[in-house]
This record gives sequence, structure tokens and C-alpha cells, in this order.
Amino acid sequence: MPLLNNNPTKTTAWKKLAAHFEEMSSFSLEKAFRENPNRKDDFSICMDDLTVDFSKNRIQQRTIDLLVDLANELQLQDAIEKYFCGDKINVTEERSVLHTALRSTSIEPIFVDNEDIKPLIKKTLRKMRVFSKKVISGDWKGYTGKKITDIVNIGIGGSDLGPDMVVEALQYYKNHLTTHFVSNIDGDHVSEILEKIDPETTMFVIVSKTFTTQETITNANTIKNWFLKSASQFDIAKHFVAVSTNLEAVDAFGIDSDNVFPMWNWVGGRFSLWSAVGLSISLSVGYTHYKALLDGAEKMDLHFKEAPFGQNIPVVLALLSIWYNNFYKAESEAILPYTQYLTKLAPYLQQAIMESNGKSVDRDGIPVAYQTGTIVWGSTGTNMQHAFMQLVHQGTKLIPADFIGYESSLHGLKDHHKKLMANYVAQMDALAFGKSKEQVHLELKSSGQIDQVARLMSFKVFEGNRPSNAILFKKLTPASLGELIAMYEHKIFAQGVLWNIFSYDQFGVELGKELAKKLLNDT
Ligand code: F6P
Repeated sequence: MPLLNNNPTKTTAWKKLAAHFEEMSSFSLEKAFRENPNRKDDFSICMDDLTVDFSKNRIQQRTIDLLVDLANELQLQDAIEKYFCGDKINVTEERSVLHTALRSTSIEPIFVDNEDIKPLIKKTLRKMRVFSKKVISGDWKGYTGKKITDIVNIGIGGSDLGPDMVVEALQYYKNHLTTHFVSNIDGDHVSEILEKIDPETTMFVIVSKTFTTQETITNANTIKNWFLKSASQFDIAKHFVAVSTNLEAVDAFGIDSDNVFPMWNWVGGRFSLWSAVGLSISLSVGYTHYKALLDGAEKMDLHFKEAPFGQNIPVVLALLSIWYNNFYKAESEAILPYTQYLTKLAPYLQQAIMESNGKSVDRDGIPVAYQTGTIVWGSTGTNMQHAFMQLVHQGTKLIPADFIGYESSLHGLKDHHKKLMANYVAQMDALAFGKSKEQVHLELKSSGQIDQVARLMSFKVFEGNRPSNAILFKKLTPASLGELIAMYEHKIFAQGVLWNIFSYDQFGVELGKELAKKLLNDT
């Protein structure tokens, strides 16, 4: 049975939400917290080492109840079941969407076209483990008998962003191997990397689901030609591996069949870091940490499948996002991790979120008359406080923000971490509660500037009432990173379901590719 196909704006819950939105026009976060000292606890969800505090949103319990009604009316639970059990919910490409199966430890089989995919997943994980161990331990030797020191991941989009983001995020856990990522067709990108590596000690991981992507194949050929300047064709087997569904093209490229890691059509590129696409992660931090990442994601999968919607982290985040996007007409959302390790989270999520839900026709192929995918952007705190936060605090746009924090740091510089977390909390407080005229008045008075009140008042007032979610983990570990990524994956899914769009195709990126090819052929 396909997913329910219903215009969300025609549901009873949506109509009630529209009326409720009017009632909320005078809602004040400052007042809501003043009147309810338990508001933080009332609007927080805990899942082991993770707490999501969504109390600083323009919501009352009735808002959440109505949003949950919307999810129920649009049969989100049924959609979740279909997603996890492999129904072909990627209807336009006639594919299942089973990145969740890649991290499932349950013994239940999952069938795609009458084949249980669990043994394929297990076999691939085993191959990744064995290969990673050989390379990391130095048992795998390059063509002159030397150990591997560098890994180069060649891929783009989902075949680059996920592994790159995770390798950067988990650098505290990394081993002696240096990992590089080549993605851009810009020849300067690959040239810079070639200057840093030695062909005798480098392993190249070509990652391309289709093995036809212009950027990846061009970079892979450039690298192969560079390699063959000092090595022979025969040596390619010791230095090149591929992750792909297109075995013919991999073979034509000259890669040894033993060096091919499979990919499957039931895993979308932007959700593929849990498959062999994550090989560079497993090489960089070791298979045990890679597996812990998968286990963390599975924990979030189970929570998403089982928790009631009002207590379900990805569902609540999806509903809040719809509340702002469709009722408050917010245009974008900010993703603000307070850890330097997550500098690449925003670009990674930009693909995951915007390639998935950047759609303007519904499941009947009819243009939608409501807003869908949000624009996401962001950077790490505290640096971004000195960059774009002025606009978030005092600009004309409403920008809901996710603040991602960690109770402890990895290297243990306590003084730094205390200051970091004080900023984390302060930013959310400033956004929510602002600064009133009275406060500005008092401030100017106590600094001896009472004569400046009339001149400066309106510039110094912060209106506040600006929403944020505090997403707080105990520590950045492979497992907690897995939870975080899976949390956003399920938020994407839930939003796509509620907006009645297909989240798992990406036809919108094709036209530009075709035109670029045509222009190239014409010149
Ligand atoms: O940019 C479009 C896209 O198809 C992405 O969805 C995908 O992640 C990327 O290209 C790379 O594709 P491939 O892994 O087939 O090289």
C-alpha cells in the first residue's frame, strides 16, 4: 500500500492550527516562562545521553497537541512502518528507502524484491572491518612494500559530505592515517591534495553510487594518471578501491573485483554513510568506532519507531519546523553546533534536508500551494556569534535555530568548556527573552548615559520571542554522533510525509548536469 496521499492544508488539524496560530499572535516566551516555572521540563524529551529542550518555542501544550493531531491525521505512524520495512516509498524511482536497515541489529529479515538484504549488509560490514584492519595495522602494503599512511576519498554529494563530516567530527578518535577528501571538479582541489600525498603510501577510495558522476570520474582519472606516472597498471589493485552499484563501470576503470564494496539502490546517496560509503570513516577511526556510530543511529531509529509523537524527538522537531515554516512563514532554519568538531554538519545537512524536501509538487505531481522544504544553514558557536548572529537576534526574519551542545569537552579544558556552554545558554536566552525598554533604560542609567536614552533606546532593545531548540548530549562520541545524524534523517522523513511530497528523489539536480554536459560537448 502506498503512503497516504493527502493535502495537509485540507485536514481538520491544519484548520485548527490556523485558528490556533491567530490565538498565538500575542504569545510571549518571557511571559510563558514567568507563568510556568516547569515549562523547561514540560517541553523536554530525554533519550539516555540526549536531552532535547524545546521549551523556547512559540508553543503551548495545545500547539503540540494540534501538531500531533496533524501527524495522526496524515497517518505518520503508518508511513514510519512502511519506511522501516522496505515499502517502495521512493515512488518516482520505484525504490525502497532502507538506510535504517544498514544499522539494524535485529534478526528480523528485510526484503527488497523478495531478497533478504540483511545478509548482504552483514557481509559488507565484515568486508569493511577486515579491510580497515589490514590497512590500519599496516598489513596491507603499497606497491613498493610500504604501509599506507594516507586515504583519499574521491566522491561528491552524498559520496563525500557524510564521510567528510563524520571524519572531521570524530577526529578525536582517529588513528595515524591522514584522510583527504576530493570532490570538486575544480582541478585546483585535486592538485592541492596530490601535492600532499605519496603514491607509494596512499589508498584511494572512489565512492560513486552510479560511477558516472562527472566530478568523481574526472578526479578519479586525474588521480589514476598521476599514480601511473610512478607505478604500473598492475599496482592499481594495491591502491584503488571502489564503492558503487555500477560494477561494470568500476571494472572498466580498472579496479580489481576484490576491491569493490557494494552499494544498493535502496540507499539514497545522501543517507549512505552507514553503508560502504562510510569506508573512509572506518579507515580513519577504525571499525569499532564506525560500528558505534551505526549503533547510535539505531538507538534513534528505535526511539523514532516507538516513542509516542509528543515524546518523539524527530517527530517533535519536524512538527515545530512545520509550525514555523507553514504558519509563521519562516524561510530558513539555523543549525548551530557548539563544538568545533561539527564544522561540516551544516553543509552535510544542507544536502540531506534540501535535496530531500526541496520539492514543489505533491505525491500526485500537482504543484503544492503551501511551503515545503526549509532552507538550512549554520556554523559553529562561538565563532558564528561574531559573524551572523546579529541578524538572528535583531534582523527582520524569524529564524528558528537548533543549538547543539555537549555537557563535556573531549580534551578536558574545563575553563574553555564552561565559557563555551555559558555562551550556548546565553544565546538561546537572549533570543527568547530579549532585552526590554526598561532594561535598556536601567543599563544606560547605571553606566552614566541617561542622556543617551532617547537616542539609543530603539537600537538597544531586543524584541526576543525568537525560537530555539537546545539539543544537548553528554559527550561527542561515535554513538552520539550517530544519534544526531539519524535524528535529522527522521525529521526529514516526517516532514516529507506531512508535506505530501516525495523526499527520496532528486530530479532537480539533473538539469544543470545535463546542460553542463551539453555545453562541454558544444565547445
Ligand atoms: O547531486 C546529485 C547526486 O545524485 C546526489 O544525490 C549524490 O549524492 C551525488 O549526486 C553523487 O552521486 P554518485 O554517488 O552517484 O556519484
